[in-house]
Amino acid sequence: MLIIVLRFHVFRLNKLLMIENFQQLQIKRRSIRKYTPELLSSDETKLILEAALLSPTSKNKHSWDFIAVEDKQILKALSLCKPHSATFIADAAMAVVIAANPLLSNACVEDASIAAINMQMQAEELGIGSCWVQVRNRNYSETITAGEYINDLLNIPMPLEVVCIISFGKKENERTPADLHNLKWEKVHIGKYKFEPENGDNTE
Ligand SMILES: Cc1cc2nc3c(=O)[nH]c(=O)nc-3n(C[C@H](O)[C@H](O)[C@H](O)COP(=O)(O)O)c2cc1C
Repeated sequence: MLIIVLRFHVFRLNKLLMIENFQQLQIKRRSIRKYTPELLSSDETKLILEAALLSPTSKNKHSWDFIAVEDKQILKALSLCKPHSATFIADAAMAVVIAANPLLSNACVEDASIAAINMQMQAEELGIGSCWVQVRNRNYSETITAGEYINDLLNIPMPLEVVCIISFGKKENERTPADLHNLKWEKVHIGKYKFEPENGDNTE
């Protein structure tokens, strides 16, 4: 009984203090590609980078490096790493380039991806917008990959491979939160994989 009462009070306190639980945070997080000119505070930047460094890695190998960029000219150059879907990096307050080291781990892409989403969730908790920009398997030009372009720009040595860039900035606008009633539950299979009919009609 005491535990129930305590839980209720913690819940109300969280509500009063506007502290979000993890699911509320997930619902609120959307990709933000429009930023105000406001910079991030050093505390905010530190928390975001700590989220990356706190991330779990395969065999605890820490097979990543993070390059935090705030310089406007370099942000602009990063925004040109591929022809589409990266232009907004130029207006970000900060971008973190995540490079994976395949010599340290054959799960380095997974390690890098987990660090990326952890940074995005930490940013969301701070009310900071973010967006993932895919670099791995993307091209700068017909002969140069996006990764090669960035390695050259930021002096990233071999064998590091850039997986993605996460852009950060204060949100110009909030976006519509995700809808819990619209989740793709058909992607969840209980016990065994179950093929669904094409039209989604699963009545028997
Ligand atoms: C692996 C991955 C790659 C992505 N690459 C890009 C990208 O290059 N440019 C971009 O604008 N958004 C990119 N996104 C963001 C997605 O477009 C976005 O997460 C998706 O449309 C869902 O929208 P939401 O994040 O607002 O929920 C990427 C997201 C993921 C997870």
